[in-house]
Amino acid sequence: MLSTVPLVLSLLLFLQTPVKAFFNEQGDLNGRYYKGSRYRTCETLLERREWRTLNDVEKADYINAVKCLQSHPALDPPITQAQTRFDEFQAYHSHIANAVHTVGQFLPWHRLYLKNYDSALRSECGYTGTAPYWDWTQDAEANSNNSISRSPVWDPLTGFGGDGVPGTYTLPTDFDDDSRINPPSFVGCVPDGPFANYTLRIGPGLLNTDHCLVRGFNESAAQHLTSAAIANATKQQSFELFRIEVEGQPLTSDHRMHDGGHIAIGGEMSNFFSSPGDPMFYLHHANIDRIWWTWQQAVPSRLYEIAGPSSTVEPIYNVTLEYPLLMGSLGPTLQIRDIMDIHAEPSCYTYIRKPLSVDWDAFLRHS
Ligand SMILES: *[C@@H]1O[C@H](CO)[C@@H](O)[C@H](O)[C@H]1NC(C)=O
Ligand SMILES: *[C@@H]1O[C@H](CO)[C@@H](O)[C@H](O)[C@H]1NC(C)=O
Ligand SMILES: *[C@@H]1O[C@H](CO)[C@@H](O)[C@H](O)[C@H]1NC(C)=O
Ligand SMILES: *[C@@H]1O[C@H](CO)[C@@H](O)[C@H](O)[C@H]1NC(C)=O
Ligand SMILES: *[C@@H]1O[C@H](CO)[C@@H](O)[C@H](O)[C@H]1NC(C)=O
Repeated sequence: MLSTVPLVLSLLLFLQTPVKAFFNEQGDLNGRYYKGSRYRTCETLLERREWRTLNDVEKADYINAVKCLQSHPALDPPITQAQTRFDEFQAYHSHIANAVHTVGQFLPWHRLYLKNYDSALRSECGYTGTAPYWDWTQDAEANSNNSISRSPVWDPLTGFGGDGVPGTYTLPTDFDDDSRINPPSFVGCVPDGPFANYTLRIGPGLLNTDHCLVRGFNESAAQHLTSAAIANATKQQSFELFRIEVEGQPLTSDHRMHDGGHIAIGGEMSNFFSSPGDPMFYLHHANIDRIWWTWQQAVPSRLYEIAGPSSTVEPIYNVTLEYPLLMGSLGPTLQIRDIMDIHAEPSCYTYIRKPLSVDWDAFLRHS
């Protein structure tokens, strides 16, 4: 028994480097690291992983960092009701929502927004892990006997808490149509998990009033969250067609994966303005960002391909790589060009599709 301890320790040390290199390659669709960019290549890439491949300690580290952001005071929020740094992120999204949806900068703006959230978790809350993503196909695929509501992301102990309880939340009646509230989606307060007792101050919609985290799962929305839906998007040959196929209504006649994911969770997440009040917002959008990155990597010229209208109201021009991504108090304004290559500074992250687990049996058989 005693002699196996040093053996296992030396195996672990031996495995550390090759395992990391192997999964780096897995995270990069074509094994390519674009060196042609005018930006410094990264010393290391933060490896964003699917939520269920994190172990319970890693999950707790992430949840605790989010709760930490919910306990730090806001710095300079665009909406005065925001009290915490978490609220401040939600408030900035609400404030800028009309300018960053159904337009060419939709994907780039959300990429940088996520990066700033991740940076805040790390620099303000000591988080040493990386931003997780939610691969909803694992819950939505019809042949998997899974469902949105059975996803492990809702685990009350290791995850984000579950569905809203009917009858525990009453929507205010004094917001106007501009708030884009869908009342059937606001089913009730989340009763369990780490965010059950957090008071949101931004939302619902444009009405900023104290309320619980509201959800209302919608299993029908799973049809927009399948591998077939992703394939419909990634087969598009231009950035503009790809972006529209990802984003969904009102650009498309029915929902797509972006709005489909929002509607599948429902409540706060279903709202155009206040959706980042649900911490799952960031995992859903990380998955959207990952799908964009997959599309970008399939053809070299796509790495810096951008298009689409800059606004939904006049004056409208075509978005270019110089378009400024405004972040207010969340971080510096960057141009779209700066964030196109996630493997370059200042982004420096990648997406890992496989769990960081070692098949010990296979390893021992071959050694
Ligand atoms: C599917 O899941 C349900 C609920 O957990 C279970 O009762 C049922 O037996 C499962 N069906 C199959 C084919 O695994
Ligand atoms: C929320 O707060 C109530 C009252 O303080 C407490 O009983 C309950 O356990 C808390 N729930 C969670 C999930 O923390
Ligand atoms: C639930 O999802 C379906 C399919 O996308 C959609 O038609 C319906 O409007 C959604 N219901 C709610 C309350 O969001
Ligand atoms: C994929 O696109 C085809 C053709 O437009 C459409 O019929 C199908 O419903 C789409 N599938 C999904 C899952 O969005
Ligand atoms: C924007 O680009 C589209 C497609 O390339 C083009 O048809 C349109 O004229 C452009 N609009 C402006 C205002 O430049």
